[in-house]
Amino acid sequence: MKRSVLAGLALVGAVGLALAGCTSGGSPGGGGSSEPAPGGGGDGVITVGFAQTGSESGWRSANTESMKAAFSAENGFNLVFNAADNKIEAQIAAVRGFINQGVDAIVIAPIVEDGWDDVLTEAKDAGIPVILEDRTVTAPDDLYASWVGLDFKKEGVIAGEWAAENFGDTPTNLVVLEGTTGSAPANDRAEGFNEAIAGTQIKLLDSQTGNFTRADGKTVMEGFLQKYGDTIDLLYAHNDDMALGAIDAIEAAGLVPGEDIKIISIDAVRDGMLALIDGKINFIVECNPLLGDLAAGLVRDVLDGKAVEKAYYVEDQSFTPEQAAAVIDDRLY
Ligand code: AHR
Repeated sequence: MKRSVLAGLALVGAVGLALAGCTSGGSPGGGGSSEPAPGGGGDGVITVGFAQTGSESGWRSANTESMKAAFSAENGFNLVFNAADNKIEAQIAAVRGFINQGVDAIVIAPIVEDGWDDVLTEAKDAGIPVILEDRTVTAPDDLYASWVGLDFKKEGVIAGEWAAENFGDTPTNLVVLEGTTGSAPANDRAEGFNEAIAGTQIKLLDSQTGNFTRADGKTVMEGFLQKYGDTIDLLYAHNDDMALGAIDAIEAAGLVPGEDIKIISIDAVRDGMLALIDGKINFIVECNPLLGDLAAGLVRDVLDGKAVEKAYYVEDQSFTPEQAAAVIDDRLY
């Protein structure tokens, strides 16, 4: 797969954001969550169906906001938005709905990696281009036009390297809060982290899904604490929301998060960064949710028949408490 790296949002124009009106033309668009205007009907408006995962986390809220701002009426779009509450069947049904409505293009943030071949083939057969944002799929890449998102494996590697550097030389008991089972970020963040801590003295006690939510992060951490008590030294949470839920559980158990149990998480959303500055989280790897302009640029380029690459990676950074304090006032999410 050809791979492009976009160094943050400064390179938003790298996929050719031409926001002046252009449409796929002629396709019988329309349909939507409420009363969408028809798309591709010669009115210059592009109707885009966006199948979002749900609203599981602060990251997801920021991503949804970014997508809605980019696919706005002012920018020439009619956005048909669906959030599937992290139910895979519901997300696939939403995509089928977009195909039946004849939208001009479909954007998907796929909940899980597997199971997309059939519906992507249906979109292709209907002549509707699909752009993936955020998460990836295992389906053949000729079934979608392009993808824009983050390098989840690299995020896991950076988190694991920090763990190895700081705890690798002393016996350290690790628990992991995984993201949604079968999702690209859960799979890749686990793989990257495990590779980076291999050969160190960090020992995995337990690893369970917290579904990327604060509530499940708290519940699963409560279970870990009941089972392993204060023998837990280190928590790796696949996102900030689960880390924040775990912090509640750790404090309720009379332990000090960030001290008795060190915490590494991923996302760098505002609440996570504040907990990092507060010393309750020790290290955060960023996962930038502001993908809307890039996804909208890709939709326009694809509908205009321009050549696009299969993958556009947005670069992430990482933060210690000191680094977080230095940037917190300038963060956009
Ligand atoms: O796919 C990105 C992940 O999904 C984010 O890290 C997590 O917070 C979100 O729910």
